[in-house]
This record gives sequence, C-alpha cells and structure tokens, in this order.
Amino acid sequence: MRSKQQHSVNFKPLIYLCFFFLFLFLLKLGSIFSSSKMQNLQRKSFKSSYPFSTSGSETYEKLPQSLAEGIVHYATANFTPQQTFKELQITLKVLERRSPCNFLIFGLGNDSLMWSMLNHNGRTVFLEENQKWMEEVKKHMTSMEAYQVDFDTYTVGQAVEALHIGQENDCKEVTDPRLSKCKLAIKNFPDEVYNTEWDVIMVDGPTGFRPDLPGRMTAIYTAGLMARNRKNGETDVFVHDIDRWVENKFSMTFLCEAYWREEIGKIRHFTIPSHRGVWLQRPFCP
Ligand SMILES: C[S@@+](CC[C@H](N)C(=O)[O-])C[C@H]1O[C@@H](n2cnc3c(N)ncnc32)[C@H](O)[C@@H]1O
Repeated sequence: MRSKQQHSVNFKPLIYLCFFFLFLFLLKLGSIFSSSKMQNLQRKSFKSSYPFSTSGSETYEKLPQSLAEGIVHYATANFTPQQTFKELQITLKVLERRSPCNFLIFGLGNDSLMWSMLNHNGRTVFLEENQKWMEEVKKHMTSMEAYQVDFDTYTVGQAVEALHIGQENDCKEVTDPRLSKCKLAIKNFPDEVYNTEWDVIMVDGPTGFRPDLPGRMTAIYTAGLMARNRKNGETDVFVHDIDRWVENKFSMTFLCEAYWREEIGKIRHFTIPSHRGVWLQRPFCP
C-alpha cells in the first residue's frame, strides 16, 4: 500500500512559478507606467518651454538667451558683486522659494544682472540715483527695468534728525507712500513702483558712505511702508551694509526687531506681513 505522502501532489514548484510570472507582470507594468509618466513630462516641458530643441523623440528645454548672456558676462568680467558668497546665500534661499516674483532693488551694482537672472520670469526693478552709472550698467543688460530716482531729502549727517521724525504719529500710519504725511516716505518714484506688490525688496542704495551724501534712511522706511501696505501676504526685505550706523539703526527701528529673521555678514533679513484689511490693527512694530 502506498503511503498518503506518495499520493499527494507537490504544489510547491507550481506556486513558485506563479510568483515568478506575477513578478514579471508587475515589472512590465512598472516600466509601462514610468515611460508614460516620462512622456507626459516631456509633453509638459514641450508646452511650457520656449524656446526648445528636439533630439529624436525627446524634447529638452533650451537655456534662455538672457541667462546665456548673463553667464558669459560674469565669466568674462574682472569684477565680482560686493556681497560675499555667504551674504548672497540668504537672498538666494528666499528667491528659491518665491521666484518668479516681484523683486525691487534700491541701488544698481555688479550684482544687478545676477538678481535679474535669479528671478528669471519674474519682475526685477532697480532704483538708482546715479544716471551715468545706470546707463553704464544698462549697456550690459539692455532688457533691465531701472529708474533714476533722487534720494536728496536727508543726508547721512541728518540721520539722527530723521530718526526723530520717524517717531511722529504720521510715520506710524500705514498707507501708500504717496499719501503718507511722514517726511521719511519717498513720493517721487515712478507710479509702477507704488502700484506693484513687491515680494522681495533689497535696500542696497543710495551709496550713503559719507555724511554729505544721501543716506538709506528714507529708502529703508519706504521699503517697510510698502511691505506693510500690501493687501495681504508677506514681503522679504533685505538691508545691506548693516555694519553702518544708519543701516543698522533704521532697519531695526522701522523694519522692526520682531520682524527680524536672519543676518549674515553685512546683510539683514526681515519678513514683514501686511498691515491692511483684517490686520489693520497691527502696531507698526509688534
Ligand atoms: C553699495 S552699491 C551696491 C553695490 C552692489 N551690491 C554690488 O555688488 O555691486 C550702491 C550704489 O553704489 C553706486 N555704485 C556701485 N558701483 C558703482 C560703480 N562701479 N560706479 C559708480 N557707482 C557705483 C551706485 O550708485 C549704487 O546705487
């Protein structure tokens, strides 16, 4: 008589075979899925990128001409921006998050082209006091949006007087700078500067390195006012040269210690929220 074991069929190899085919099936499914995802991505980049180039069935984005020109410009220039590598990181981090955005910069320098490139597809506007210098910079950057403006209200030597003026009630009121009664509010910028909601503002001008030259007091105050006057959201405001008395004192006073975020070397970063609408009751400095 045969034992029970001898009669029973061994299913083990069959089960292993089934698992093997299932594995092959899943592998194929995975490759079909990822290739259709790739095709979708390529189709998307085809739609959104212009100019583009094709190689066979694949599509690649081309480097925009403005970026290409910028790279060549910096690669062949015998100067570098004044801000150090570490100082630049602080703004770069914010632009990585917010760009493309509305970026307003007080002061034109060797860094201007870099800021425009980093805010690719955004709007970058420069305000410059020195007409000749502005024309010089524009030669390398024909598409740049820059305006000549005068900061002739207070010199660096009048900074203490300006600080006292900033304590008056008129200077605590949040409004469009053109309507402000505060003497620190700059009113002579082109209208588009006031009509735009700026996401990022960099105060790196006017020069302000001598007592008889215009200082950055009004630029800092006005940057803070425009940030508070946004309908909603936040503005990242940067002030460079905070090793100087004016930049240090005015940024902490009018952009507020409570809105301070970070500083590295000579640059300081504030994040200023809207003080309008439901936030109208916010004190000028919390
Ligand atoms: C402190 S600088 C800003 C420099 C900028 N961060 C850079 O990296 O080049 C601000 C002001 O200095 C003046 N300035 C800067 N470089 C200049 C140059 N090469 N020639 C004339 N004026 C210049 C401009 O009036 C500008 O608004």
